[in-house]
Amino acid sequence: MKTPEIKKFLTDRAWQADRLNEHIRITGWVRSTRHSKAGISFIEVNDGSSVSSIQVVAPKELVNYSEIEKITTGVSIKVSGILVESMGKGQDVEIQAKEVEILGAIEEPENYPIAKKRHTFEYLRGLPHLRIRTNTFGAIARIRSSVANKIHNYFFENGFHWVNTPIITSSDCEGAGELFKVSTLDHAQKKIAALDADYAEDFFGREAFLTVSGQLNAEAYCLAMSKVYTFGPTFRAENSNTSRHLAEFWMIEPEIAFADLEDNAALAEALLKAIIEHVLENCSEDLNFFTQQIDKALTGRLLGVLEKNFEKIPYTDAIEILKKSKGDFHFPVEWGLDLQSEHERFLTENYANGPVIVSDYPKDIKAFYMRLNDDGRTVSAMDVLVPGIGEIIGGSQREERLDILDSRIQSQRILSQLSWYRDLRKYGTVPHAGFGLGFERLISYITGMDNIRDCIPFPRTPGNAKI
Ligand code: 4AD
Ligand code: MG
Repeated sequence: MKTPEIKKFLTDRAWQADRLNEHIRITGWVRSTRHSKAGISFIEVNDGSSVSSIQVVAPKELVNYSEIEKITTGVSIKVSGILVESMGKGQDVEIQAKEVEILGAIEEPENYPIAKKRHTFEYLRGLPHLRIRTNTFGAIARIRSSVANKIHNYFFENGFHWVNTPIITSSDCEGAGELFKVSTLDHAQKKIAALDADYAEDFFGREAFLTVSGQLNAEAYCLAMSKVYTFGPTFRAENSNTSRHLAEFWMIEPEIAFADLEDNAALAEALLKAIIEHVLENCSEDLNFFTQQIDKALTGRLLGVLEKNFEKIPYTDAIEILKKSKGDFHFPVEWGLDLQSEHERFLTENYANGPVIVSDYPKDIKAFYMRLNDDGRTVSAMDVLVPGIGEIIGGSQREERLDILDSRIQSQRILSQLSWYRDLRKYGTVPHAGFGLGFERLISYITGMDNIRDCIPFPRTPGNAKI
């Protein structure tokens, strides 16, 4: 039988008041137990609806008390009883159990991998199917889901259309060659040199990959529907073993027509602020948990983001700031070189003490589709940097002029893959812009969780695709 979410009894005052001293039922998994010598069991039950668990008080008079007093962490149960005001500390209400039905016991409780004690995140990463039963991973999952919902709502409320761009593609959007190949050919049987000729025999009749970004396809839809976004998984075969990189991550990519870099930056700022406002208003229990357990400054920092405008710094000025800072950087700071994570973090953490939008990067370090500025050496690109993470958004105004686009596409191979993309400039081209927001970096920022592998349910990284 369907039972109400435990959260309702704990946080919804009207719901709670209506059911006080009434008979109720709940279902869930046991988080912890205390079986007193006097013959009363206190059982904390959680069903994933909130960080808090509800306390069930089971007296020895219950017919199956001999089973109840053996209940350990992880056991699944169904409880019916009376919702009463709690005498104990830490909760307003508890359930005086009339019936406790054990649905699923724990095989060898002494070997249960996530028995009640503190585990390191590293240890839990080895158990992606069980770590979700801990407070931290439950809170991350709820915030992730709620933020995804907010993002869709934000776009719908602002006249955007959600476009489902393909996961299998034949183009390399970023031109960085970090592609996973999709093929049904038995490559082990073939000599590498012979492969190129053989794609005609392959499933798609051509070389195909997992997408690194939905942007190029989103541009096609943008240039008919004006305001679109994609929100889906993207894949990068980059061998980066850092706390900010995944081989499979989710990206939110809006694309707006009749728009320039300034409009793009304004959208990025408004979207991030709307998400943070949503989390502060709607995820307060989980946010308080992260603020207490993970990062004491978290809620204050998020509130601070709402208070001021994002700082805007052209790349050329950013280089000057970094040079003048005499910061002890590992990587060189020179006009023309890309900003490394340490430089990004300096700008957002030490210089601006909040989100920063760096714009107008040298053309040679950015992708072919970014619009060339009048100076001929920079492009209308922007990265949004936030404290603790560095780059959370990368975007640009797109090159809408066919001749300049052609001059930016160096490789014949890419040119031949992109004849359709050139069509978009041949047939009714308009200024347009867009960006990609990394969903897991966003979740890391909002929760204060240091490692991006803890911000996605089943992380994929070099050497790891567990489960
Ligand atoms: O800066 P990136 O590479 O931009 C693009 O892919 C553009 N096509 C987006 C667009 O304009 N529509 O990636 C965008 C964001 C980054 O700022 C970062 O937050 C995230 O995606 N990202 C990653 N997140 C986790 N693991 C990785 N390996 C990531 N690579 C990028
Ligand atoms: Mg980028």
